Amino acid sequence: MELIEGIYTRRSIRQYTGQPVLREQLLEIIKAGMWAPSGMNNQPWRFVIVQGDEVKSDLAKQTKYNFIIERAAVCIAVFVDRSAMYNDVKDHQAMGACIQNMLLAAHGLGLGAVWLGEILKNADGVRTLLGLPKEMELMAVVSLGHPVSKNHSSTRKDISEVLLKEL
Ligand SMILES: Cc1cc2nc3c(=O)[nH]c(=O)nc-3n(C[C@H](O)[C@H](O)[C@H](O)COP(=O)(O)O)c2cc1C
Repeated sequence: MELIEGIYTRRSIRQYTGQPVLREQLLEIIKAGMWAPSGMNNQPWRFVIVQGDEVKSDLAKQTKYNFIIERAAVCIAVFVDRSAMYNDVKDHQAMGACIQNMLLAAHGLGLGAVWLGEILKNADGVRTLLGLPKEMELMAVVSLGHPVSKNHSSTRKDISEVLLKEL
């Protein structure tokens, strides 16, 4: 898939078939996240693969989007390691780039994914559930699976609304 085509055709996918996601695919998605740029190349991202039925169900309880996590074949919880950070804004920007790379990689592999942010309201609960130390700050949960349908539409503002000036 062409990179530009991938950027435009990626959609948030919230319904998945029961088909499992291969471990190699999961590692590829994580690797794509790791190849995002980061300030001073500090690579502050950390990941937890959540696949077991029981832990996935406990994770689902931390968000009102529980049904998405329940339906997912697997989730990847993405954390920033606060002890690896050097600048709040820049490290959080790097984390956004990492998560977007993961979504694009999933799309490129023919999988469906969605960035779950609402769960951040229970960031501490998720961290405790996954047995992680305080330095790990939850950035998102990426929910993954084989898409039930690939015909999802989305909208964006017209470029004239966001392009402020051409000087
Ligand atoms: C920071 C962030 C948080 C998000 N949180 C959620 C969420 O909690 N639940 C959800 O279903 N989608 C979530 N999304 C996905 C957005 O709803 C989605 O990207 C947006 O509606 C555009 O749709 P598209 O990705 O299909 O183009 C989130 C996206 C971002 C970037």
